[in-house]
Order: sequence, then C-alpha cells, then structure tokens
Amino acid sequence: MSFPKDFLWGVSTSATQIEGAYDEDGKCLSIRDCLPEGKIKNNENAKIACDHYHLYKKDVALLKELGVKSYRFSINMSRIMPLYDEINERGLEFYSKLVDELLANGIEPIVTLYHWDMPFWLYEMGGWRTRKVVKYFEIYAKAVVEKLSDRVKYWITFNEPSCFLFNGYVQGVHAPFIKNPLLISKISRNFFHANAAVTRAIRKYAKEKPLVGLSFATSPKVPETESKEDIEKARQITFETPSGILANTWFLDPILAKKPAKVYGIYRVSKKTCEECYEPLDFIGLNNYAPFVDYTSKEKPTYEWTNMLGWENNGKGLYWLTRFVYERYHMPLMITENGLPLKEELKEGKVHDEERIRYIKEYLVNLERAINEGVPVLGYSYWSFMDNFERAEGYEPRFGLVYVDYKNEERYFKDSAYYYKDIIATSGKKLEE
Ligand code: NOJ
Repeated sequence: MSFPKDFLWGVSTSATQIEGAYDEDGKCLSIRDCLPEGKIKNNENAKIACDHYHLYKKDVALLKELGVKSYRFSINMSRIMPLYDEINERGLEFYSKLVDELLANGIEPIVTLYHWDMPFWLYEMGGWRTRKVVKYFEIYAKAVVEKLSDRVKYWITFNEPSCFLFNGYVQGVHAPFIKNPLLISKISRNFFHANAAVTRAIRKYAKEKPLVGLSFATSPKVPETESKEDIEKARQITFETPSGILANTWFLDPILAKKPAKVYGIYRVSKKTCEECYEPLDFIGLNNYAPFVDYTSKEKPTYEWTNMLGWENNGKGLYWLTRFVYERYHMPLMITENGLPLKEELKEGKVHDEERIRYIKEYLVNLERAINEGVPVLGYSYWSFMDNFERAEGYEPRFGLVYVDYKNEERYFKDSAYYYKDIIATSGKKLEE
C-alpha cells in the first residue's frame, strides 16, 4: 500500500491571512482587524495581505498549475455577519465564486467555517466568554451552508480551538489579547456548544451529504525508542500529563469520545457538557508542526532541528500523531496543516528553499509509514499555499510554497512548489528519490 488513489493532496490557507479587502463589500471589522499597537511584529496588519480577494482567479490558476486535488480555505465570518443576525449576501457571493472557480479547475474545496476572524461586535458582546456566541455561530453556519453546500462536501467547523481560546483569552498573545487563565473552563464550554450547534447546522441545511471535521492543533510525544514501554510512555505523555491534556486531550476527548476532561484540579469539561455537545464527526482534522513540548518542565529541551519560530521540526511526530490519534479514536484522519516557515528572499524570480523540501519529504515519508500500517488518512494539506500574514509574527515567517512579493502582489513558485507538484503527480513515488 501507499498513498490511496483518491488521496486529497492539497494546500491550506485562511481568510484573514491572505484576503485583504478588510473593509470591502459590506465586511465588518474582526478582532484581527483591530490590533492594538505593539501586539504584532513590526506593527504589521492584514488589511491588504496577499490581496487574494481581488486576485482569487489568478490564485486558483496557480493551484491548478501546482496540481493539487484539494484546497482548504476559510470563510471570514466578518464578511458574512456584519452586525448581529444580518447576512451579507456580497460576502457569500465571493466564496461562491471561489468555489465555482475551484470546481471548474477540478479542485475539491475544503471549507473551514471559523479560522479566528470573529466579528468585533460579537467580541464586544463577550466573545467566547458568553454563551450568546452559540446562537450567532448557528445562524452563520446556516447561511454559509445554504449558499455553498450544493457544491462543497468537506466542512471543517473550527480551526485550532486551543489557539483561538487559549492564545487569545488565556495567554493573551493572539487577538483579542486577553490574559486570564481563570477563563479556561468557561470559554471551552461555550466553544463546545458552538461546535455542536455548527455541526448540527451543517447536517441540517446541507444540500449534499456533508463530511464534517474539525482541525485540532495537536502535538504528540515521540517515543525515545520503539520499544513497547517507550511507546506506552509517549502515549501517556501525549494524552494524560497536564500539558498533554491541555494540548491534546482537552478538545479531542470531549468532541470525539464524549469523555470529560480535567486538569490541575480546577479546570474541567464536565460530563453534562460532553453529553449535550456530542455530535460525532466524519473525520478528524489534524494540524501538526512540532512534537509535544512539556511546558511544565524546568529543563530546556534541545532539538536537532528547529524552525525560525523555535518549534522542533521532526517528521516522526506525524507518524506518532496519526498512529496515537487513530488508536485512541478509530476514525478517519485528514492532515489539514503542516509546514515550515523560513525567512526568504526572492533572487531573480526564484526561491531555493531546500530546507522546506527536506521538511516536506521527512513529514510525508512518516505519514506514508502510518498509512502503510493501516491508519486511514484522507488527505494532506501543506500550510501554506502561499506566504501570508502570520498571527503575531506578521509577514516575516514565510510558510508558502508560493512566494508573495508584497510590494506588487506578484506570486512565484518556490523550488518546494515544484517538488510538491512532482510528489502529487507521482502519488508520492517522488519521495523515494
Ligand atoms: C496554525 C494556524 O491554523 C495558521 O493560521 C497559522 O498560520 C499556522 N498554523 C502557522 O502558525
């Protein structure tokens, strides 16, 4: 066996990170448009970003040239819900045209409904601190699904809840920059209810049978050796230690197994929440960049290979992640993000990103190992299709296969884009070279 015939070879993006047009066609401001001074590196913002909103046809032509089978993008909630339950038809129209363009080019759309762009009015109402979010997410999901579900089959309810809740409301490092650990249980509870409401809305209003997943930010402990003991120890660290719970189990267990979670004696996801919010998914979306980091440890870890943001690069993580998650939940998986940021410059229209080629190869070889051992994986989306606006780090880290020259919005294939194109064209055989 190897990569399945119908494997969804793809790339990923998200709305705010690429679209620009932050106040066009009836869009309201989101928490990511209202950035206090000093919160983002070099005080950058995403008002223009890659201008994908205006250049989407050219971008789809590049996707076609890359040869991808699928494209994961997100809908900006602030384009669709400018105020309360008002629905902005012009916002919906943009995504409808994008879906048409993708399908006309033989590319399967994978739609993420929420990738962190909460309308500012909803944040002012309380954001994740209030249960009112549930109602608005339900109205939002209904509007999008009614518009696109005659053509879209793959739906992702939320992207990385651990990041938009914990980085946004607990650590205060991402929008809306709130720092309050005591919110952990409450904001999580509101999220679990919103996720259930959105999943139910997709199934209720979809015109074609939908396949629904959620993209979890996940990181596995890589066993020291492949002995039985070391594997069990790594599994235990991944799912049962305090940092393992907050990084993985806190969201995975309640959503996928209706199982309560508890950490540090005070934070918990109750049995009641699990029961009220359980709505089985069709696949598990996994975003993975680095293996598990134990934030409670006083020892500073040393890594063989890291990226410019200090995250460990280790392809074995993708093997252990997919294996551990499958063995715990027994459901199909989809790798919805995985990628390498680099500081890069364009020279004579080229970017020689050997390090990214090495990264892609290492992670995909490990993914293939899991598939060969029987783990069902529906697809892999490299993050990201093109360079874009990275949460708190602005434009310096470039994750793309396609280089974006922000001065004139020209796009250029990096060497890694040609490499990934060959991997897709050979169904993974290229990895053997
Ligand atoms: C996580 C997020 O989903 C995405 O928005 C971000 O740019 C990448 N991973 C890299 O940090």
